[in-house]
Parts: sequence; C-alpha cells; structure tokens
Amino acid sequence: MNKKGFIFDLDGVIVDTAKYHFLAWKELAKSLDIEFTEEENEQLKGVSRVRSLEKILAWGNKTISEELFQDLMGKKNEEYLSYISEMDENEILPDVPRVLNVLKEKQQPISLGSASKNARTILERVNLKSSFDAIVDGNDVSKAKPDPEVFLIAAKQINIKPEDCIVFEDSVAGVTAANTANMISIGIGSKSVLGHAKYVFKNFTEISDDFITSLIEN
Ligand code: BG6
Ligand code: MG
Repeated sequence: MNKKGFIFDLDGVIVDTAKYHFLAWKELAKSLDIEFTEEENEQLKGVSRVRSLEKILAWGNKTISEELFQDLMGKKNEEYLSYISEMDENEILPDVPRVLNVLKEKQQPISLGSASKNARTILERVNLKSSFDAIVDGNDVSKAKPDPEVFLIAAKQINIKPEDCIVFEDSVAGVTAANTANMISIGIGSKSVLGHAKYVFKNFTEISDDFITSLIEN
C-alpha cells in the first residue's frame, strides 16, 4: 500500500481549543485597553504565543517592557490552562477519531504539527497521544507558522517526503506553512478564510473514507 504522511494541527482541528485561546487573549487585551475582532483573531490562529502578543500590541499601538511582555505571556497561558484543565474526550471534534482510525487501518504514518507548547498535555487529556507516530509542537521549533518548519520536522520524523504529506489546518498561517512546505493543504473551516488551501471542508464529518483513500492512492 502507498504511504503518505498525514500531519494534523491540534487547536481547532483535533480539539475545540481555538475558542479558549481567543477568550484568553481577549481578556488579556482588554486589560490593556485593546479590543480585537473575530476577524483579527483569525490572524492569531496557528501563531505562536510570542508572535500573538506582538500582534495584539501592534493593533493597540502599545509598546511595553520585556519584563511586562513575559509577565503577560505567563498570564495568558495560566488563563488558557484554566480553560483546558477540565478537558476530556468530549472536546475531540466530530469524526476526528473516525479519520484517525481509517488512517491507522491503512497503515498511514500520522504526525502532529502544532504551534502549541501545551500540545502534549492536551493530547494526553483527550486520550489521543497513542494515535500519533510523531508529535512536533511549539517546544520543537524555532520559527512560528507561517514558516513551514513545524511541518518539515513532522515529515522528517515520520520519514515521508514533504510532497507526499497532507496537512489538516484551521488557520490562515498554517495553510500557508503547508503550501510553502510543498504539502497538500486541507483547510478545516470556511472557504472565505482558508481559500488558499487545496481543499476546504467545514469539519471532518464532510471528509469521507473514500476521499482519504483517494489521498493515499494519488
Ligand atoms: C496554536 C494556536 O495551535 O498554538 C494559537 O492556534 C496559539 O492560538 C499557539 O497561540 C501557541 O499555543 P500555546 O498553547 O503554546 O500558547
Ligand atoms: Mg489550529
């Protein structure tokens, strides 16, 4: 059987945590008197913690000391961790387990490619860690999406050439990263936001077993 590399983003693809990142950033921004819209939030998805705070400060025209910057990043993460502390398998997005099972049955290598430093904790909480042959997350990279580094490392770890990899992503930055890595990008979300992906599906319930098979065979 053909082998392709299947790389999954985490937040907003496997689990419904994108909303918790949004809530935590919104609260922090409000404390600095900075408001940002859902549209601006799309630009934060997939983006590292450092880069996200830089963007929020730029939107609010604020400059702060390095010490306060570090302090705010810590606060955001504490807030985020309080949201995810109660997480369990119920927060796995619909049909993700089905697609992972199809890939496993067909003996396809599976990797995580996430910007989050909390990725391993979350996978453990929702009991999905053992579904992955490799896990590459925010602790393993030096360049944030849209840089392709995270996906290139993921491909290497599962021993598959970048052009034989398929990436599932919910973020603008992540789809750009996958395209730059010369991988097949599959956007999970709306076409109006992820129009640069090769395929876009609203969620995994729209991804059939036959479509997965066609990705493996082509
Ligand atoms: C990405 C999220 O997966 O991880 C971003 O989409 C987040 O919103 C980034 O900023 C970094 O995550 P963390 O958990 O290390 O702050
Ligand atoms: Mg994401």
